[in-house]
Parts: sequence; C-alpha cells; structure tokens
Amino acid sequence: MAEDSEERVAVEAPSIAPLDSIEPTMENSLRSPVLNHTSSNPLPEANVIRRKLNGYVGFANLPQQWHKKSIKKGFNMNLMVVGESGLGKSTLVNTLFNRALYTPKERKDPATETPKTVQINCVSEDLEENNVRLRLNVIDTPGFGDFVNNNDSWQPIVEDIDQRFDAYLEMENKPNRAPFEDNRIHACIYFIQPTGHSLKPLDIVVMKKLHKKVNLVPVIAKSDTMTDEEITAFKRRILDDIKHQAIEVFEPPRYENDDEETIAENHDIMSKVPFAIVGSSEMVSTADGRTVRGRAYPWGVIEVDNENHCDFVKLRQMVIKTHLEELRERTANVLYENYRTEKLSSMGIQQDHSVFREVNPSMRQEEEKALHEARLAKMESEMKAVFQAKVAEKEEKLKKSEAELFNRHKEMKQQLERQRAELEEKKARLLEQGRIADEKKSRKGFSLR
Ligand code: GTP
Ligand code: MG
Repeated sequence: MAEDSEERVAVEAPSIAPLDSIEPTMENSLRSPVLNHTSSNPLPEANVIRRKLNGYVGFANLPQQWHKKSIKKGFNMNLMVVGESGLGKSTLVNTLFNRALYTPKERKDPATETPKTVQINCVSEDLEENNVRLRLNVIDTPGFGDFVNNNDSWQPIVEDIDQRFDAYLEMENKPNRAPFEDNRIHACIYFIQPTGHSLKPLDIVVMKKLHKKVNLVPVIAKSDTMTDEEITAFKRRILDDIKHQAIEVFEPPRYENDDEETIAENHDIMSKVPFAIVGSSEMVSTADGRTVRGRAYPWGVIEVDNENHCDFVKLRQMVIKTHLEELRERTANVLYENYRTEKLSSMGIQQDHSVFREVNPSMRQEEEKALHEARLAKMESEMKAVFQAKVAEKEEKLKKSEAELFNRHKEMKQQLERQRAELEEKKARLLEQGRIADEKKSRKGFSLR
C-alpha cells in the first residue's frame, strides 16, 4: 500500500521540482524563521524551507487510500434485537441477512415451532458483497414478557451492553495494545407488539433503560397482522409516547453539505419510524406467478421485500445500506464516550474532554469564530479604555488650566482692587491738601483786609 502511493506520487507528480533545486526566495525566507537565524545558531536550511506547490502532490488520493484500507480490513457490525418473546426477533435477523444465522438448540417440533431464545445468544458470520467484507455479530436476547413480574427483564440486556463497553474500555487503556475487536452494540432493534394501542409500560421502561446506551431502532413486529389504517394510527400513538417519554431513537445525522437527495432519502426513512415489519425467510408464490420472500395467507401473499407491503426494506436500508457507518460512529463518539465519562467519574477520574473530543470541522469553525469574536471584543474594549483614558487626561488638563485662569483672574482683580484703593487714597489725600491750601488762602485774605 505504501509502495503503491509512493509510486503514484512519483509518476503523477512530474511538475514538482526536487527539493534542492528550489532557491530560497524573499517570500520563503520571510516565512521561514530558521532562514533568519544568525550564524551563531545555524540550522540545516533544507529541512525547513516551506514552499507553495502548484503541481499535483497526491494527497487528494487520501479518500481512495482510506477506501482501499477499509476494503482490506473489512467492517464489523454488532446488531442486537430486543423485545417480548415470540415477536419474531430471530426471524427478522435471518430475514435481514438472508440466511439462517443461528441454529436452534431445542426444537420440539421442527416443522411448526421455533424454539424460544433463553439466553443472550451471539452469532457471528462473515458476509461478503462485491468484495466488501462484513463481520456481522447478532446478539439475540431472550424475549421478555412471559413472567409474572417482568420488571427486571431488561437487566441481563443492559448488563450485556455495559460489559461490552467495559471490555472496550479495558482494551483501550492497555499500554502497547494490539488492534482489538469492537464488540460494542452498534444498533438495537426494539420490537413492539402489534397491539394497535400504544407502547406498553414495559416497553417504555426497557426503551428508557436502553436509549442512552444504544442506537435504538423501534419496529412494529408482525405488521402483517394489522391493516394499513391500524398501522398508521398505531405508529402515531407510538411516536407520541416516544416524544412524551423523551425516548431517543436513532436518527440519521444532518450535515451542512448534505445534498437534496440525501435529505429526501433520510426524510423518507424517518417518515417510516417505527418500521412496520414482516419477517420471513420462506419463499412463497404470488398470484402473478413470482416467487418471493414472504408470508402466504388464504387472502394473498405479504411480500417482505415489497415497500408497498411493509417497511422491511426501509429498515434494512437504514441499518445496513445507508447508515451503518453513522450507527458505528454514534456508538463510538456519543454513547461510548458518555458511558466512559460516567464510568471514569464514578471511579473519581475526571476526563479532559478537550483531549478526547471528536474533531468536528463545523464545531472547530464555530470555536474559531467564537475566538475571533472574543478577540475583536477584547480589542474593542481595549480601544474604548484607551479613548476614555485620553478623554480623562484632556479633561484633567482643561480643569487644571481653568483653575489656573481663575487664579490669575482673581490675582489680577485683587491687584486692580489694590491699585484702585491706592488711587482712592491718593485722591483723598490730594483733595485734603487742596482743601487745606484753600483754607490757608482765605484766612490770609481775611487778615490782609
Ligand atoms: P424468542 O426467541 O422466544 O424471544 O422469540 P423471537 O422473538 O425470536 O421470535 P421468533 O423469530 O422465534 O418467531 C416466533 C414466531 O413468530 C415464529 O413462529 C415465526 O414464524 C413467527 N413470526 C416471525 N416473524 C413474523 C412476522 O413478521 N409475521 C408473522 N405473522 N409471524 C412471524
Ligand atoms: Mg429468538
């Protein structure tokens, strides 16, 4: 594989100049801090020159490499089926993968009776389709509802799911671990009895115990026992219950770059939830002479693979054809992560989320946007602070000069007052002198007469 990609780069990228043939330019010398180093600390220049490559390099081939590697490695899927006894869990699994995946152990009457599943039963099968290998593990659980007290019938199922998470956590924490198998449950098909009423209290309890640990896919079992109108009304009531009880069922994730076709396809799938299914591996003949997988009744044949007869095709499409990888991803990134966080914190270990967080491009973009906005807000507040400081400084200066002016004015006024008083005094003195002189003159005149 490595040889392949190296070869391809060499053949398909003739326009790339060899490393040592490129002269360091002004641009790359500015971009490369090492080129600006002084001779006292020389570093090998050839290792650090960065260039803009205009030609083909080859990393556009990464998706193909990933595809090739995945084909070589193969895929795995762990599918669990849960529901009351006799609702057709084992039959559906056989129908989904078109083979008898498990061999019944105690068959009383092989012709008529399918034995009950009495314990959690895991069957593995390697499937291959168009060179793609899938290791399928089906976890068939014993049906509940038979007992007088069914309250804890979910207990072994939840324990099994937890044990799988624990085993994964243990493997993950091993130092120098070798590649190990992922046994976590990727999808759980939950069977609802076709009563036509609504969810039973036991269904609600069990679904609530499971929905945070597995991708829950609810189905109406044996929908061939109901009319189309009954199914529509039943689905509506089930969805109301699911919403009211805040039960999370698996929903294909929406991506920003989803095209119209994908959006329509996902909408189409979700419009069928809970899938009204019919299971059967039997081949039966239709009135128009076709041989199909289905169930024969005196009034006609119910075809498993006919979308007009039941939602089996849509269920298969979601679980296997279009969303298997999404189911696996949600198991690893959401359900398992939550379990691990809870487990570690219950052991007193706090998890650093920034280390384990999934690198989601849209999340990263949001974070960068938030950071940028925070930086802008900081700059704005700094500029405001500088502006306010300058205004305060100016105000202070103005106040100071106003006080100086006032003092000068006061001093000048006082000086003028003083001068005026002096002049008044002088005037008074002169008037007094004049009056004395006049008096002397008149006295002289009187004596001369
Ligand atoms: P346990 O293992 O006991 O929990 O039962 P189960 O849920 O695995 O049911 P199983 O697949 O063994 O089916 C029980 C019976 O229901 C069998 O006789 C099936 O043929 C029948 N059955 C399964 N699927 C359907 C269906 O879609 N419609 C009808 N009418 N019968 C079905
Ligand atoms: Mg069974």
